[in-house]
Amino acid sequence: MSRPFYVTTPIYYINDVPHLGTAYSTIAADVLRRYHAVRGERTFFLTGTDEHGLKIERVAKERGLAPKAFADEMSAPFRETWPKLACAPDDFIRTTDERHERWAAELWKRVAASGDLYEGTYEGWYCVGCEAYYTEKELAEGNVCATHKTPAERVREPSYFFKLSRYQDRLLELYRDHPSFVAPGSRLNEVKSFVAGGLSDLSVSRTTFSWGVPVPGDPRHVMYVWFDALANYWTVLQDDPERAALWPASLHVVGKDILRFHAIYWPAFLMSAGLPLPEQVFAHGFLTFGGQKMSKSLRNTVKPTALADAFGVDTLRYYLMRAIAFGQDGDFDVHDLVARYNADLGNALGNLLQRVLPFCHRVFEGLVPPDDAPPEEHEALLSGVPESLRMAGEAFATPAPHVALERIWSALRDANAYVDRSAPWDAAKKGDKPRLAGIVVRVLRLLESVSVALWPVMPGKADELRLQLGLGPVSPSVGLDLWPSGATALVAGAKLGEVAALFPRIDPDRQAELIASLGLAPPAPAAVAVAAPSAPAAPAASAPAPGAPQAAAADQPPSIAYDDFAKVDLRVGVVVAAERVPRKDKLLSLRVDLGEAEPRAIVAGLALSFAPEALVGKRVLVVANLEPRTFGKGLVSHGMILASGPSESLTLATVSGEPAAGSRVK
Ligand code: MSP
Repeated sequence: MSRPFYVTTPIYYINDVPHLGTAYSTIAADVLRRYHAVRGERTFFLTGTDEHGLKIERVAKERGLAPKAFADEMSAPFRETWPKLACAPDDFIRTTDERHERWAAELWKRVAASGDLYEGTYEGWYCVGCEAYYTEKELAEGNVCATHKTPAERVREPSYFFKLSRYQDRLLELYRDHPSFVAPGSRLNEVKSFVAGGLSDLSVSRTTFSWGVPVPGDPRHVMYVWFDALANYWTVLQDDPERAALWPASLHVVGKDILRFHAIYWPAFLMSAGLPLPEQVFAHGFLTFGGQKMSKSLRNTVKPTALADAFGVDTLRYYLMRAIAFGQDGDFDVHDLVARYNADLGNALGNLLQRVLPFCHRVFEGLVPPDDAPPEEHEALLSGVPESLRMAGEAFATPAPHVALERIWSALRDANAYVDRSAPWDAAKKGDKPRLAGIVVRVLRLLESVSVALWPVMPGKADELRLQLGLGPVSPSVGLDLWPSGATALVAGAKLGEVAALFPRIDPDRQAELIASLGLAPPAPAAVAVAAPSAPAAPAASAPAPGAPQAAAADQPPSIAYDDFAKVDLRVGVVVAAERVPRKDKLLSLRVDLGEAEPRAIVAGLALSFAPEALVGKRVLVVANLEPRTFGKGLVSHGMILASGPSESLTLATVSGEPAAGSRVK
């Protein structure tokens, strides 16, 4: 039996309210936990609030409240918000819980017992916003913190130090022997080079304020808030021996801003305490909102629960998991959300059900018809579906939920193409019941599989879909792998449910109404055409060779020396992710594997010719040494994809066979 899947979110600071950024971490963790639950694994999902430290003490004071009263008030919205976003944590830890403080003290004692703590005086810089120590080198001019844009404070106080320096080699060994400890891989490189650069001992207690867990045996000190906070992942399990067996955690989902704490300090504390290390720390990217950084005021405006109320909680979850490649920064664009709702959810999924289910009610008395005369001629269109769903499972496990969703939609595209080609309406018109039954049953069974594969991301809608198929909700149970395997509950004669629109279309008026109700801006005016680097480059204007006819000069660029050609670094790339660019209807934003540490971001003018999903997995030819080109805020292309033809019907340049990503083209 596999180890249980224990997943955590960061515990959130209570000086803020739950916002889209924190909702993103929580929803991602919930999605991954649901995936593992569907696979029949025992799962445990933890979230909570980080309530100690100078930042909280100060905000409480400003509010005229005792820190604990403030914490009680501010922790509640977190606990209440997550279920509204269909997140179902098994426990909610607060660092002011007695159970947490007791076990955090125990962790401290274990670290002390290894001889890794000593007393000294900390003198240096501290950013209260980050609750982190910085060297002068890490701060901008005026000792300003890069994240908070406010000056760090000068601190000088007695402190306990943790001998972090002692763990440099063991940490480097960890990253070498278990490279999946930090994901995505590009983040591992960052962490490695930070550690390889040398580690100083870490101040792990404070004496100039008192809002923290008292240091065992020395109540003049409180623990450094990150020591106390990181401990939560372990403390929450300790009071119950059955839960204690869940340690080590399988996955800590964190934002990239707090990776250092999780990938360096946390394993070092655990090594010191003689405890096993978590399997993986996954750093996701940062969300912007409509291209803007999530300022405090914006965070307060765009409440995730308001978005869920306006568009449906499952739509919000789908959009966050699909539109933002997990591990990379991304933009939350409410207009793009509506576009995806109508296209992906309404057309590709909802409509597919509408295309077949009503036949069952009209022709087959609301029952699953027998399929003893299968329509064979178009079945090839569905032959890739089991593989797409298998790959979706693999992608959830990676974890790459955005890829998983792409695979599921690839199955849905195949199913829609199958319906287009096999035209069940013709069979219905002709009264050819066996043929109609054959088509309809195939699509219903595919939707049955999709309902399970989609459940981790859209539990409510997946169950609604199942209800229309006459099936009960997805209910994971330990030891029972529910992942689609070809088995079906839709046997002939089974009763189907009532037909209802799963994703009623949001028309432009309704869209404007919903967006206005959120206090957001109306859609931007139509995109200005932007020539993307992938468009076949126009020949450079050049003076015609003496005596050469004008037309030939325009069609035929002048010849170049081999050395000039050799300057072009042409490579084979594999597209690993592709998505539309909001408000730029010709552009796709791609991630292309060129065999480098991290896939390249390439913006290409391919959107009029290719659906983003159709490009994933394709081998393309890339000019890899073009100067980066900017297409708008945060949208930078680091290469050019070669293609030929007008922008509505481009053909990609490619290579035969399957050369490795990054192979040179000469
Ligand atoms: N309390 C610490 C975590 C301690 S874990 C032992 C903390 N809290 S936080 O509330 O400031 O941030 C929590 C998480 O929210 C972080 O992972 C952070 O990356 C994430 N996000 C905050 N704003 C975000 C975006 N705009 N986008 C995506 N995630 C962001 O740090």
